[in-house]
Amino acid sequence: RTATRCDLMLFGALGDLAQRKLFPALYQLERAGLLAPGSRILAVARTEAGTDKVKEQLLEKLKKHVKSEEFDPDIAQAFLQRVEYQRLDFSDPEGYQALRDWRDEPDNQLIVYMATPPSMYGVIARNLEATRCCNERTRVVVEKPIGHDLETSRVINDELGQVYNENQIFRIDHYLGKETVQNLIALRFANNLFASQWDQNHISHVEITVAESVGIEGRWGYFDKAGQIRDMIQNHLLQLLCLIAMDPPADLSADSIRDEKVKVLKALKQITPELMGSHVVRGQYTAGTSGGQPVPGYLEEEGANKGSETETFVALKAEIDNWRWSGVPFYIRTGKRLPEKLSQIIIHFKPAPHYIFDPDQKHLANNKLIIRLQPDEGMSLKILTKDQGLDKGMRLRQGPLELTFSETFETDRIPDAYERLLWEVMKGNQYLFVRRDEVEYAWRWVDQVIANWHDSGEPPKRYAAGTWGPVASIAMITRDGRSWYEDA
Ligand code: BG6
Repeated sequence: RTATRCDLMLFGALGDLAQRKLFPALYQLERAGLLAPGSRILAVARTEAGTDKVKEQLLEKLKKHVKSEEFDPDIAQAFLQRVEYQRLDFSDPEGYQALRDWRDEPDNQLIVYMATPPSMYGVIARNLEATRCCNERTRVVVEKPIGHDLETSRVINDELGQVYNENQIFRIDHYLGKETVQNLIALRFANNLFASQWDQNHISHVEITVAESVGIEGRWGYFDKAGQIRDMIQNHLLQLLCLIAMDPPADLSADSIRDEKVKVLKALKQITPELMGSHVVRGQYTAGTSGGQPVPGYLEEEGANKGSETETFVALKAEIDNWRWSGVPFYIRTGKRLPEKLSQIIIHFKPAPHYIFDPDQKHLANNKLIIRLQPDEGMSLKILTKDQGLDKGMRLRQGPLELTFSETFETDRIPDAYERLLWEVMKGNQYLFVRRDEVEYAWRWVDQVIANWHDSGEPPKRYAAGTWGPVASIAMITRDGRSWYEDA
């Protein structure tokens, strides 16, 4: 079950992502026995430090970020044996000779992980090539954001493309590494029950909510330039939408899946300036509460520019112009400082064509499939049954067919997205990574919404931290005679 022997060069190894997510994920692969003997990790960063010091620091971070019941000092030591540290100024070609020297097992599969600002991707790629550190077998992993818009994403992708072929590039969208997100593929294409009901004949609308209770978490500098639409919609939310909306792929190969996702992105209806009022709401949080504690507004966060009009909340009504989804809106919303951390998708099925029960209960008569991505991973199918009791006649009751993964399957643990993604890179499987055309079509759609915002000059609508976003986002869906799903 182990992958081939790998040499992993991790650029940005002392940064937040590497320390909080990547090293703990690699530790988990070690713990699961998935790292092949002889696999090695070169931690690369700008800071002057020795390998021993870096390992000490890594051990501390592992203790902090790995759950205590999953932390085993012996496994941690075995894992750290694989690690070496190399200081490098990424833009100094000479320094790359040390990386080449480290590669003393040319048969090991080289993986280059760029956990750096995207502006460094091209520089690193070129320097690796110039020092002949990489070849056509090398795999390169890059993080979002791939650009700030379509144009800048093309520059980054071109730079990478000058050194690597598309089949060597693994663009991360960590939502694709979440077990429950992959489960959307199993749910849809392994269950004919759903497969045959998955279109505009049977579904009235779809909701996708990705809510976060956290605020900006010290990332104001990055976030303020991006905003929620670039940070979350362009990637995670559109990926979820694609997995829900795509046609069945011919097989599970990376390109079969990605071809189908691209077709969805291409079919997304443009949101023209005339549609902005009814289809898009952007918000920014003001002071409020989180977990019962008072929290500052976006403009009062540390390092904030008081005049910022960056959005921390977006609600959109997306429409897909194709046979399967014509007339089925996808209401999507995501925001910071909402009441809870919750990612879920709700499929609202149409009511039966002819209704014969109590007219007062007609509003109940549609099935809903609730897919909980996090937390409490699982799903729930709301079905209608007869209310029990002699005096109830044929009154209806809506109840759940419930599947909570942790209870039903007694799953020990759900692996973190990065464990899955690193493991797939080691195996060379690209199906959980984003292809260049997906990135570009997603930008194309998001760019036109952003351009319309700019043209309108409208500031974001305010919402108090700890609420479900601006009231306009509720109006957006109630205008269509619907409401955001609330678990009763
Ligand atoms: C990241 C965004 O991609 O996803 C963050 O940059 C966001 O702003 C995070 O908080 C959410 O990820 P998760 O896995 O916690 O839902």
